[in-house]
Parts: sequence; structure tokens; C-alpha cells
Amino acid sequence: MSIEYSPPIGTFFLHSAETTYAVKVLAQGYLTHLYWGPKVSAQELDFVLQLRDRAFSPNPDGLGREFSLDTLPLEYPVYGNTDFRSPALEVFQPEDGSRLVDLRFSDHRITAGKPSLLGLPSTWVENESEAETLIIGLEDSKLDLRVELSYTTFTDHPAITRSARIVHRGTSPLTLRRLLSCSVDFPSSHTDWSFLHLFGAHVRERELACTGLRPGVQSIESRRGASSHHHNPFFALTELEANENHGAVYGFNLVYSGNFLGLAECDADYGCRAQLGINPFDFSWTLEPGAEFQAPEAVLVFSQEGLGGMSRAYHRLYRKNLCRGEWRDKPRPIVVNNWEATYFDFNAEKLNEIATAAADLGIEMFVLDDGWFGHRDDEHSSLGDWFVHRKKLPGGLEDVAARILEKGLSFGLWFEPEMISPDSELYRAHPDWCLHVPGRSRSEGRHQLVLDFSREDVRENIYQQMKQILASAPITYVKWDMNRNMTEIGSAILEPGRQQETAHRYILGLYELMEWLTREFPHILFEGCAGGGGRFDPGILYYMPQIWTSDNTDAISRLKIQYGTTVVYPWSAISAHVSVVPNHQVGRVTPLKTRGDVAFTGAFGYELDVSLLGPEDREEVKRQTALYKQVRELLLHGDLYRLCSPFDSNEAAWMVVSADRDEALVTHVTMLSTPNAPQRFLRLKGLDAAAKYKVDNLVRQGDALMNIGLPIPYPSADFVSCQWRLSRTVESVGGS
Ligand code: DGJ
Repeated sequence: MSIEYSPPIGTFFLHSAETTYAVKVLAQGYLTHLYWGPKVSAQELDFVLQLRDRAFSPNPDGLGREFSLDTLPLEYPVYGNTDFRSPALEVFQPEDGSRLVDLRFSDHRITAGKPSLLGLPSTWVENESEAETLIIGLEDSKLDLRVELSYTTFTDHPAITRSARIVHRGTSPLTLRRLLSCSVDFPSSHTDWSFLHLFGAHVRERELACTGLRPGVQSIESRRGASSHHHNPFFALTELEANENHGAVYGFNLVYSGNFLGLAECDADYGCRAQLGINPFDFSWTLEPGAEFQAPEAVLVFSQEGLGGMSRAYHRLYRKNLCRGEWRDKPRPIVVNNWEATYFDFNAEKLNEIATAAADLGIEMFVLDDGWFGHRDDEHSSLGDWFVHRKKLPGGLEDVAARILEKGLSFGLWFEPEMISPDSELYRAHPDWCLHVPGRSRSEGRHQLVLDFSREDVRENIYQQMKQILASAPITYVKWDMNRNMTEIGSAILEPGRQQETAHRYILGLYELMEWLTREFPHILFEGCAGGGGRFDPGILYYMPQIWTSDNTDAISRLKIQYGTTVVYPWSAISAHVSVVPNHQVGRVTPLKTRGDVAFTGAFGYELDVSLLGPEDREEVKRQTALYKQVRELLLHGDLYRLCSPFDSNEAAWMVVSADRDEALVTHVTMLSTPNAPQRFLRLKGLDAAAKYKVDNLVRQGDALMNIGLPIPYPSADFVSCQWRLSRTVESVGGS
């Protein structure tokens, strides 16, 4: 890893072990993008900038007909002086109505390590030797505006993080309308590539979508105030021939949990501009003289080993350099959560019954979900009233927790801190504490409104309430839920001209509250959730190392949901539970073994009334919990290889391999059984070809497992799964 600047050619080279990213300052001060891809040596790459006369591409600075920003690959494009493609920055100057920006190179600095971003989550390093950071300063002398582009390269990761910060040094207020985190101009050779992204809905999160790049703009975005179930803040540009294992893939992921925009614009010359950042839709920000604005971080990953290579690069980076706190590396407890077991209909006795059965089954953590507070017996009330529902739990949380701990389990609790029910004491006392626009009705979602987290007094109130509850009982796990998106976005404390700041201020406030609580309670394992996976993004992972992946707990639906999620996010972050059949979301009946095999992620558990299990099922659950305890370190820290996609076939398979390649866990699921199906073999990946592995009492050579595969047992019914545990052995190869 190194960042080099070569003054004679005005070029910055950012190298990782396998990649190079190059940026050039032109004589006029314009910053151009030269290259990003497989490693090239630091040399003059100016031939990338081919100039020739083009009609209808105007020329700045009297530079002659051959020079136009419209036809050059730019590093941080702005609007108004000859580039007509999508800008990264837009401003409005109320004083004279001007929207022009003209950024020229000013200075640069290269530092060891990686500075954090003020008020925003970002990747981080433990030692300065792990990363190097380049800051390029660009300035508009007329506006007296400075933009700092920051780039970090890592010793151990083929990733570059980018962000932008704007500093307003002018003397009158300026309106910021758009400040994207990154923009990359690819040459025309990329136009026969594909645009891959993750889209979905509640209980159908993160389906893979991939379409060819075409002239014009392809984009993904969220306008919902959360990163959303609908589009993840991620896209990749992939070489046409690229697949899971081979080919060039460029990934873009935003460390942000609110409205975002990701786009690829193929221009008239078949070049492609890729951009990612806060969504300019319904966004503006007033910069008073002297004020700054920090854009979130974008994480860019290049891989020549297909989508699988890109995913593993993201996984390794996020496992080590995004997640924080003591739970980053600690095996996660096996959870039983009472939501699908009881919904709102529980009392202390019922909880005790579930906990008693759970303890006997090897489960380690009881998480009490929605309904324990205020007078909440259904969705209609009490969000914001974070005190115990005494009618349901007369002995309080102290009593519930004491009975749980007595059985050897730990105790966890659900909150939905960002919400307020119109039927709540909090709302009656503070009707202006929710997002709203005066004179307009307040649309409810799940009978609730969104608290205005842009307000410090609101955050402080929720912080104090949560702190009191968390200190009142031995609570070592918190599920942080968020069950509706924003409407009527307005804040009672912001002046009219600043109302479009509300959604971003909310996210900054959310991060601040998460920071307060995770700092105050470092031993608590926090789990993110937003109606399942409605905010599965790197911003949340910075505070909470695992996220409830979907409200859909059906094992077969989860194949796609989890497969899609792993395109960017590590196995350790994916929270998955075994639930009852017929499944509550889709009505499907699947074997308990399959439900367990599919839920064996980094954060495993149960979401059913375990006190109602019959003897056979109890034995199966005991087998699962015992096995999970043996393999959870592997599932937490190992590398994930996707073997078979549920999007393309009737089966799904994946495996997790330890860093030293000594151990692996392989899972295969057949969806529908096929009559007279041919014998199939599952070819493994990531093993040591020269090593011998013990598989089910047989010994197999790594190369045979990867080139021939494991014979898949003939499926005797629908929804059958197989799981194999592999461990390196010194025994000789043999057996049948
Ligand atoms: C949505 C979550 O995703 C569920 O797991 C559950 O916690 C409910 N909310 C509770 O209201």
C-alpha cells in the first residue's frame, strides 16, 4: 500500500497490493481521473486524456476547441463551466443567484493512518501502519470555497475509501444543494458492462438485480429517510463476462443510513460516470461563513475475482475495520427472541416458560421483543414511553431478568427509540417532537410517528429513558428497531430556509445517540433492525455488529435474502433465526434441520415458542445449539464462498472457510426435489488444494473437493439441506 505524488507529471498514485487508482492535476488546475483497476506501475498515464475537437462541447478559459471538461474524465465534477454530465457538487449563492462552481487544485497532504469523519461513521484503523490517507484540496477563489477530497488506501484490503468535505470561507451564506461522496469517470471501454445492485421490499430484501449499462443514467436511491428495504446503498459495475468467480468488478458502498443516490451515467462518448452520496433530492444545507459540511464515506472495492472476490474484500474490511467494540470479535450468543412466539401477547409467566425450555436446549440469550413498555398491547400505543408495562410484568424487568439469569441465560431487550405513538405520554407532553409540517396532517405508519432526532432535546430525552432502563436490570443485548419511513419531513426548530436539512440532521442525531449508548454500555451487544432489513448498511454496522436481516424467517425465502445480503455484508453481521412452521410470513413448511442450517450465520437464534417443541424437535435443537457452539468462531471470522445461487437455480450453497484454511462449514439446500435427478457434485472453494480434509469420517484431498466436489445426497423431499464440516487432517486419503 502506498500513496505517491509525482510532481513532474502532477499525478497521484494510490496503490494497494493489487490495485492502482490515479488522479492527475492539469496545468489549469482541473483534477482529472486517470485510472482505477489492476495494479500498474507509477508512470505517466497522460495518454488517457485524449483531446480532440468535439462539436457542442464548449471550451473553458479560452483553451481552444480541443479542451472541454465535457469530454475529460474528471475526479470531482462541478456544474457550470463546460461539463454537462452529472455533477458531484452543486451550490446556490443567494446573494447573486449564481450556481457556478469552478474548482481548481490548491494543495495536498499525505498522512499515515486514517482520520475519522466528524459526526459520521466510517472505516477506521487500529494502527497508523494499516492505512495511508491523501487529502486533495480544491478551491473556488471567487466563492472562497474549499473542497477537500479524502482518499484512504489500506495495507490489507483492496479498498479505497473516499469522502468530501466542504469549507465555506466566503462572507455571505451559501446553499449547498449536492455534495456527493465520490465520482469516478470510467473510460468508454466500460460501456458494455453491467450495473448490479440490491433491491427489494419488506420481507423480500436485497434481491440481486443486474442489467447492462446503457446510454443515459441508471440510478438507485432512497427518499425514505432510511437506506431502506428497497435499494441498498450499494452498486457494482461489472465486466460483462464477470461472474461469481472471475472478472473485473467495481463495488461502491455508502457508509450512511439515510437518503442516498447511486448512479452510473453513460455519456455520448460511451464513458461511464459512477457516483454515490447523500441524495440531493429534498436536500439543501445553508453554509454560513466559516461553516463546513462533511459528506459520508464511500467504500470502493475493485476485484478481478468476480463478485465473490469483491464480497470477501468488503467482508474482511467491515469485519475488522468498520465494526467496533468488544462484540466485533466475540462469538455471539445463541438467542431466543419471543416476537414470533408471542407477539404482544405475553406475561412474565409465559416468558419464564420460554426461558426455562430455552435453557434446557442450550440457548444462551433471551431477548424480550416489542410490548414490554408503556401500556403496549398492540401496535397502537406507547412508543416513546420507555417504562415497564406493569400489568404484563408486575415484577418489572428486574424480576424478568432475574428469572432468566437464574437459568443460566442472559437477558436482552427490544427498543424502537426513534418513534413515538400518538397514544403515548411523551406525545401528549410534546406533540411537536415528531417530524411534521405545520398545517398538514401527520401520516402514520404502523400507527406511529417519527421522532425529530435532529433535535438535541428529543435525543437527550430518549437517551435518558433508555439509560435508565438499561441500568435497571442486567441487560446485555439490545435490539434497536425502526419500523416506518419518514413523511412530512419538517422540524419545529429549524427555520424555513433550513427545513431541507432535517433528514440529514436526523441521521446525524441518530448516529450521535447510537454513539452515546454504545459508549455508555460497551458490554451490551447491539443489534440493528428496521422492520427486518430496512437499514442494513455500513453506517449501522459501525455502531452495531449485527443486523436483523429480514422479518421473513422462512428458510427458503432467506436463501435469497441472505445470499443478496452477503454481496456486501459479512456473514458475521447477518442475524438469522429458526422459526415455527407453517412459517408466519409465507406459510411454508420446511424441515427443522433445514431451518437450522440456513440460520447458521454469525448471529444465530430461535424465534419460536421453544416450550412447545415435541421431543424429536427438542433433540434436533439441542444438536443445532451444540454444533453452533463448535463452529461459531468459524462463522464469525471465516471467509464466505457462495457456491450456488438461489437466484439462478433450484438450489443454494455456500461455505465458510477459516483464514488458515484448516476448517470449513459447507451448506447446501435443494428447494424443490426433482424426480430421477442426476447425481450432482458440489465443488468447494477456498480450501488448501494440497491439504487433506476430514469430511464426515472420510478423508478427501483439498484439490479433489474443489475440482470434483462433494456428492450431494439425492433429495428425498422438498426443502432438504445438507451440511458438511471439514477439518484439515494428517490422515491419508481413502474410503469411498
Ligand atoms: C419489526 C422487527 O423486524 C421484528 O423482528 C419485531 O421486532 C417487530 N418489529 C416488533 O414490533
